[in-house]
Amino acid sequence: MRGNIFEEILGQDSLFVDRKAFDHAFEPARLPHREHEVDSLVRNLVDALNGHIPSNMLLYGVPGSGKTVVTRFVLSQLREKGLEMGQTVKTYEINCRNVDTKYRVVQTIATQLAQRGDAPVPFTGWPTDRVLETVVSRMSRVGGVHIIVLDEVDNLVDKGGDDLLYALTSLNTLIENGRCSIIGISNDLHFTQHLDPRVSSRLSQEDIVFHPYVATEIQNILSERASMGIKEGVLDDGVIRLCSALAAQEHGDARRALDLLRISVQKAEQRAQGNVDTKHVRLAQSQLEYDQVTPVIKTLPLHQKLVLFSICLNEENGLRNISTGEVYRTYSEACSKIGTEPLTTRRVSSLLNELDTMGLIMARNVSKGRGGRSKQVNSAIPKAIDAISLMSESEPMVNEASMAKYNLQGHL
Ligand SMILES: Nc1ncnc2c1ncn2[C@@H]1O[C@H](COP(=O)(O)OP(=O)(O)OP(=O)(O)O)[C@@H](O)[C@H]1O
Ligand SMILES: [Mg+2]
Repeated sequence: MRGNIFEEILGQDSLFVDRKAFDHAFEPARLPHREHEVDSLVRNLVDALNGHIPSNMLLYGVPGSGKTVVTRFVLSQLREKGLEMGQTVKTYEINCRNVDTKYRVVQTIATQLAQRGDAPVPFTGWPTDRVLETVVSRMSRVGGVHIIVLDEVDNLVDKGGDDLLYALTSLNTLIENGRCSIIGISNDLHFTQHLDPRVSSRLSQEDIVFHPYVATEIQNILSERASMGIKEGVLDDGVIRLCSALAAQEHGDARRALDLLRISVQKAEQRAQGNVDTKHVRLAQSQLEYDQVTPVIKTLPLHQKLVLFSICLNEENGLRNISTGEVYRTYSEACSKIGTEPLTTRRVSSLLNELDTMGLIMARNVSKGRGGRSKQVNSAIPKAIDAISLMSESEPMVNEASMAKYNLQGHL
């Protein structure tokens, strides 16, 4: 028997010098290609140091375009300057995906303002207005400027967001000798359309749009991060370029690019190779796709799975651009194999739209002469992923359906 099973791996030289540089929470000191956005934020927030109220702002941009990291950077600089000038600047960052009700948002702010001797504001139970009053009195007590960041604010829209945003944008008139301003962050450009117009006009006094990064910009971001986190000379030519190109195709997502680079290095390490090459990037890309898509497929509701199953089955049989009629036929057949009543064609059509929105299929409308239109669908699931097996493993009914024999249309 060899020595301890951890020994071999422990002794291995890592290709990273600082793996933390690739953590999602890492805050780099420099943010290339966001100078303009940083500048817009600074120009507005400088009012906080001049004794005025900064405008409320809405920041928009696709996922991974740097909204959160830019905001954190600017606010930390603002706090630093405030401290230096003896001005009170308090900032509150709330992620509305986790803190997603009016009560919890105001409770979180009230709690951050608590001083020794204050009664704790409970997680539930008080009337929301009482919590708001507590926020107002505690903000008045501190004075100065309060900046509330509502990250991923679109999550609030369905949950009384109007109410909350109205209340928060009204704080200014209630706080004595203090000022308050709101920064909302969203990756849905149309998010304000779902808000009461009174609220949206108060909230979006100034909008900043973060454009998606292009490949060359991502290359610069990656090179900087690589020089901090990865040993010199380990990356082959072309690794950063390929990671950037792949992430640029994926709506210019810097997070995706950083993940790709990190996993590529790990792939090389796992194989005890001292260099990272483009093969490792391809492996990393398939793993990311797999990790991204599998939980979505596994957790689809039964009929959604059966619809997707019907598409995959037809594709396995060689059919592409499958008509919705054909999908429905196979789907009904699958339902009958497992003794389940099929949903109506109308319902199935909306399930297809949902699958399209989730990115699992691609649907397109085609015209069929004499003004008629019909829809054709293709699976958009990466080839390396066996969707039918995943659905069968997670749902016995699909497993049963997948065992049966089907009357499928041959390919044309
Ligand atoms: N200009 C940049 N320079 C260096 N790193 C960056 C830059 N832009 C983004 N990043 C990095 O990319 C990742 C994603 O950025 P961030 O979290 O700010 O995106 P986001 O726009 O808030 O995305 P989401 O909408 O998904 O919340 C982070 O790890 C961040 O450090
Ligand atoms: Mg973010």
